[in-house]
Amino acid sequence: MSAPRILTGRVVIATHNAGKLVEMRELLMPFGVEAVSAGELGLPEPEETGTMFAENAAIKAIAAAQASGLPAFADDSGLCVNALDGAPGLFSARWAGSSKDFSSAMARIAAELDKRGATTRRAHFVSALVIAWPDGHTETFEGRVFGDLVEPRGSQGFGYDPMFLPDGYDRTFGEISSEEKHGVDWQSGNALSHRARAFVLLAQSCLQRPV
Ligand code: IMP
Repeated sequence: MSAPRILTGRVVIATHNAGKLVEMRELLMPFGVEAVSAGELGLPEPEETGTMFAENAAIKAIAAAQASGLPAFADDSGLCVNALDGAPGLFSARWAGSSKDFSSAMARIAAELDKRGATTRRAHFVSALVIAWPDGHTETFEGRVFGDLVEPRGSQGFGYDPMFLPDGYDRTFGEISSEEKHGVDWQSGNALSHRARAFVLLAQSCLQRPV
């Protein structure tokens, strides 16, 4: 087995999603890595043809690494609702349509749950993070956070954050700061959000520890 590679210098964040970009930049901040986004480099958005989060993250990271000649990392993530057989899942962004209207997407989830007479509102977010190097080497990390869906509350965060109440909390992801949503404790390696949990694993193998 080859040793994990350490990421230094410039890295591409292969996303065109403004909310994810902000969160990834915040997570990378302590590591002295210069992060440039795929949007800033004018890189095209590849089609997400995978059937798993990690496959789609790899498609985005590999495309950005090849187009830029720099290491690139991408997150593919989504909200999986138990009573909807895991939907919207891989299609979480698509449920918001081309206008990226997440109020409608959240209303659609609530309507689907009512239609099915769902007795549980359990759900989880998944984040698969892939780093790809221009020579084709990749590393994959995954994080999940479990909770309940509630009437949307709060205006912080992005996407489905206002309707997600993480286990052990009385405020939704829409009601807490991004720092609290990450919930990273570098000493213990604990984190709260799915993306931060995947990122801690990535940092433990591929980034130099913050001083
Ligand atoms: P994709 O990974 O670009 O396919 O998009 C994932 C979609 O899942 C996002 O557009 C959001 O709708 C949703 N999502 C992923 N992570 C989060 C999160 O941390 N909060 C809220 N919604 C999220």
